[in-house]
Amino acid sequence: MPIPLLDLKAQYATIRDEVLRVTEEVYESQHFILGKKVDDFERDFATYCQAKHAIALSSGTDALLIALMVLGVGHGDEVIVPAYSFFATAGVVVRLGAVPVFCDIDLVDYNIDPARIEALITPRTKAIMPVHLYGQCAPMNEINAIAAKHGIPVVEDAAQAVGADYEGRRAGTLGAIGSFSFFPSKNLGAFGDAGAVTTDDDALAQKLFDYRVHGMRPKYFHHYVGGNFRIDALQAAVLHVKLPHLESWTEGRRRNAELYRELFADAKTDGRVVLPEELPGRRHVFNQYIVRFPEGRETRDRVLEHLKSRGIGCEVYYPLTLAAQECFRDVPGARDRFEHSELAAAQTLAIPIYPELQRDQLAEVVREISKAL
Ligand SMILES: Cc1ncc(COP(=O)(O)O)c(C=O)c1O
Repeated sequence: MPIPLLDLKAQYATIRDEVLRVTEEVYESQHFILGKKVDDFERDFATYCQAKHAIALSSGTDALLIALMVLGVGHGDEVIVPAYSFFATAGVVVRLGAVPVFCDIDLVDYNIDPARIEALITPRTKAIMPVHLYGQCAPMNEINAIAAKHGIPVVEDAAQAVGADYEGRRAGTLGAIGSFSFFPSKNLGAFGDAGAVTTDDDALAQKLFDYRVHGMRPKYFHHYVGGNFRIDALQAAVLHVKLPHLESWTEGRRRNAELYRELFADAKTDGRVVLPEELPGRRHVFNQYIVRFPEGRETRDRVLEHLKSRGIGCEVYYPLTLAAQECFRDVPGARDRFEHSELAAAQTLAIPIYPELQRDQLAEVVREISKAL
């Protein structure tokens, strides 16, 4: 039997009746954008994140964009971002006419390396944007200390990290604004595009609500040039149904990560396969389970081809560093070396981790990786 990288149908089967009921409520109401379904989701999502405010939005990309907009990031400003992340982390900076300043990562957690941040700060630095990549929080104490020293706000790209903890606090409450994606493959996935931002700052929250609707308050009076960053009521309704299940799904992912640890130990792949490491004080939510093959790209690619030939889903997140993307070739500093980011791009592979996986399926993944090696 094939083992996909992600099986959303397995999850849907457990919530189908509830989803159909609430989506029908939306159809019956004929109220499709913002409104009560969105308010209800925002209230409970803020509680889940331990944040004062949650503002639900059209996508995770728009969440990053609006966060930088309300902080006033604009032409010629600089935003420090990791050199290794999903495209949107740097794309939104360029869309605002600002410059992404790439910072190398730490190869242990694949997150921005705080030891390299301070050297990148200039009078134009307007924000620092760590990414909690794959579901584990970046080293926020170190990042916040540098940011506070220089008076620079921190925006967390928590797109992959809903429910992740850092020293008992939730991802999304560790900086000025937290940004989330509800892309269907995320741990909390909508039935289409959606996202959110969280903040404890009342003034920022007000601005975020206004920017979501073209900077408008009241209707047809525009104080800022915002955008259409509204979420559909249908998406909010689905997310509201899913939210109470998120903890048990997250625990399922964590259980599978633990099983992988045992299975890889039994397979004696040590040294040849580097498993994800949960760092002290952090709760990893394993949006992706990333293994690294320190022998290099050839080994990684051989394993990838073998798994695919056996019907086992796997994917390279991400084959290029952000700095190496063609569209950023003229960004100052993009041609520098980012040693750890380049190693991550060459050596890592995502393997199945979704909560409904059974032990024998995980064992098969490990067996086939061992064979390929
Ligand atoms: C780290 C990161 N940032 C931003 C995004 C953008 O989110 P979306 O796809 O919802 O626009 C994603 C999602 O793929 C992501 O993984």
